[in-house]
Amino acid sequence: MIAGKIGAGGIRTVYKARHLLLNRDVVLKLLNSDSAVAFVRFQREAKLLSKLNHPNIAKIFDFGISSNNTAYLALEYIEGKTISQKLQQDGPFELEFAVSVITQLVDTLSHAHSIGIIHRDLKPSNVIIREATNEAVLLDFGIAKLANIGRVYRESRRTVGLVELPISWKVPCKFGRSIRA
Ligand SMILES: Nc1ncnc2c1ncn2[C@@H]1O[C@H](COP(=O)(O)OP(=O)(O)OP(=O)(O)O)[C@@H](O)[C@H]1O
Ligand SMILES: [Mg+2]
Repeated sequence: MIAGKIGAGGIRTVYKARHLLLNRDVVLKLLNSDSAVAFVRFQREAKLLSKLNHPNIAKIFDFGISSNNTAYLALEYIEGKTISQKLQQDGPFELEFAVSVITQLVDTLSHAHSIGIIHRDLKPSNVIIREATNEAVLLDFGIAKLANIGRVYRESRRTVGLVELPISWKVPCKFGRSIRA
């Protein structure tokens, strides 16, 4: 049973839903595109998510195509607000909390990198702070890719590095300058 829309990009819509048999909340991501490229990307997101097993990454429950030909992805629902929502509502984070979020994300990315997965879209709207525990949960592996780790490490010594961030992402905190992540 669909409870409501919680996000919408160009070709994907994200809903909160209730699995009636299991009696639990889930997230349903639907692909609203007939493009084969979009479908392959969506399938890649599902495959990469199913390789990941980390407390700070929302777990995948299912991936498939519905009877009306819509590709869907079912994920663990995380109760909480994204970093961008929290910043907008409550302002900059306390330093200690900002450090804890960064530390958790570094650990999470490090787990992904250890199996060759590069997220490539780390930004405030792709991280939810779990309400009950204040854990940072990384979302949205929509443009993630599987890397040839050996090649990436060689390249990282010259130029890029394993963490690819949108240029503008900084973590605001209350003590003067932002921390560049
Ligand atoms: N597992 C989840 N639990 C709770 N909320 C979620 C979950 N996954 C996504 N959301 C909510 O839906 C929004 C969009 O999700 P996501 O970033 O995965 O989709 P997207 O199609 O890539 O969207 P965008 O293009 O805006 O990044 C998130 O910012 C978050 O608010
Ligand atoms: Mg997103």
